[in-house]
Amino acid sequence: MKVIGIETSCDETAIAIVSGHKNQLKVEKSVVLSQIQTHRQYGGVVPEVAARKHIEAIFPMLEKEIAKDGSGIDVIAVTAGPGLAPALRTGVETAKTLAWLWGKPLVPVCHLEGHIYASWLPRSKRILPFLPITTPKFPALCLIVSGGHSELIIMKGHGQFERIGETLDDAAGEAFDKVAKMLGLKYPGGPEIARLAIRGDKTKFDFPRGLLDRQNFDFSFSGLKTSVLYTLRKMNLVSDQERANVAASFQEAVVDVLVRKTMRAAKEYKPKSIILAGGVAANIQLRKRLQKKGREARIKVFVPPFTYSLDNAAMIAAAGYFRAQDEKNFVEPVSLSADPNLDLI
Ligand code: KG4
Ligand code: ZN
Repeated sequence: MKVIGIETSCDETAIAIVSGHKNQLKVEKSVVLSQIQTHRQYGGVVPEVAARKHIEAIFPMLEKEIAKDGSGIDVIAVTAGPGLAPALRTGVETAKTLAWLWGKPLVPVCHLEGHIYASWLPRSKRILPFLPITTPKFPALCLIVSGGHSELIIMKGHGQFERIGETLDDAAGEAFDKVAKMLGLKYPGGPEIARLAIRGDKTKFDFPRGLLDRQNFDFSFSGLKTSVLYTLRKMNLVSDQERANVAASFQEAVVDVLVRKTMRAAKEYKPKSIILAGGVAANIQLRKRLQKKGREARIKVFVPPFTYSLDNAAMIAAAGYFRAQDEKNFVEPVSLSADPNLDLI
């Protein structure tokens, strides 16, 4: 089965073709056009600007990458939400038009489910195509950390999710972005902080680990953010070294709390796999620490390939492939609308 994935939920216009056989996937094509340079001047993503850019980008992209009559494609999968309404609408309306034009089934996909399925995508071209890749086993414990979400989810099977914890305020990625702004770094802040943190001393500041003392699986990052703000205000002139120390100590606090809560949940729910998902999964310290703790607990940790950690359409096609195994998940093009608040569950 060959699935085309379309993703326009935020500031990346992306299309991909993924082919699947049983639980093995192959990425035939994956194109991502980032709008970051445009949004950087505003310090964040402007929804209407994002939508306009998606419209400009998506048709030339489809024209270049996909046969006009859709030949060779079996299913169309599109991010229906969550995300920015005007941005989502561009992808959804495009997918509906293609489904109608080509007469192919249409499958709406939740963006967060897409991030989870990035762990089913093969790592690199070096892996011989005939060698099957190891895929997560159920029940899986998923840590989703992106610009809009921080959640702990139990995945009992394909498309079966139960939320066991979530952030009560800021998402992890949002905290990275806001602290980056305080440090005078560019948007998006995650990669900028990670880069600056390399030169910093993570033990210099003991920033708060939100809700770590509570026996639940929820997160909170607003206290940490405020603590960084007050720390920076107290220093009159912040040297480059001090900025790096703040970045490293902040990153350490986020990684510490995410990994500790995840491993605590693993102890209680005894999953067969742990899946790291979402844009913050690109953070090397988080990947390393979670993998180390997973090894110690003898639970295999799946981290998405770097290329598919941030927003892309291959992950949407991957989720669409598994959804498309059940025809009940097909929708009539006219009945589908973008849902900015779409939930995984
Ligand atoms: O999943 P994503 O691409 O978009 C959403 O669905 O939100 O995630 C974007 C988020 C941003 O907040 C960005 O700062 C964060 O992921 N991010 C990182 C890193 N790369 C991206 N956070 C920490 N370390 C990184 N290396
Ligand atoms: Zn995302």
